[in-house]
Amino acid sequence: MKVSVLLPAAGSGERLGRGPKAWLEVGGRTLLDWALAAFAWADERLVALPAGYSLDHPGVRFLPGGRTRQESVYTLLLEARGEVVLVHDVARPFLAPAVAQRVLQAARRHGAAAPVVLVPDTLIQDVDGFYGPPAPREAYRLVQTPQGFWRELLLEAHRKARQEGLEATDDAQLVLALGHPVALVEGDRRAFKITYPEDLLLAEGLARVWQEP
Ligand code: CTP
Ligand code: MG
Repeated sequence: MKVSVLLPAAGSGERLGRGPKAWLEVGGRTLLDWALAAFAWADERLVALPAGYSLDHPGVRFLPGGRTRQESVYTLLLEARGEVVLVHDVARPFLAPAVAQRVLQAARRHGAAAPVVLVPDTLIQDVDGFYGPPAPREAYRLVQTPQGFWRELLLEAHRKARQEGLEATDDAQLVLALGHPVALVEGDRRAFKITYPEDLLLAEGLARVWQEP
């Protein structure tokens, strides 16, 4: 099965406050370059960029992204040709090859797969600034990317979501809304999403010891 990698990179990076993350440098190279390198093996790589930007990179197709992550992924999905697609946030530079392989294997088999990690801290509700009811953290998972799907299944999920006005922060939710189960595989805490300014410090530190596959 051919694999298309879809990289939504069209966000504006508001919480970080450093412009679009695709051009943000960590360990001396941009987040976009980290992501492209992690998927050099893929049959096809498609990237959604913020409107008004274009780039040239051998073997990579660049498309204008949408208003939301979901719209950016949909745009890429319409152009993808692989039987299996991997959707990966450009904001997660530290992708261990083993994670991508686990996702791919489960996606081929089950049609949909997402990497998850355990919740390390105590998990509670914030009730107007006061300590609310605790959630059983062992029952919860933090969801990462890449997420893998049969392309036709993800397309159907996105079409249904568009019809019904369903908006989600990742693709697995849309597939789940179709009624199709999403297999969980073991993620990796190093694949955290660079979201807030302090994440950059962690990323710079990790970049120094990161071993290229
Ligand atoms: N993304 C996208 N198109 C959008 C919004 C987000 O392709 N309209 C991408 C981002 O570039 C990122 C991924 O979706 O790779 C995850 O989004 P997030 O971490 O939220 O990044 P931003 O949306 O850029 O950041 P923020 O929400 O702080 O503005
Ligand atoms: Mg965002």
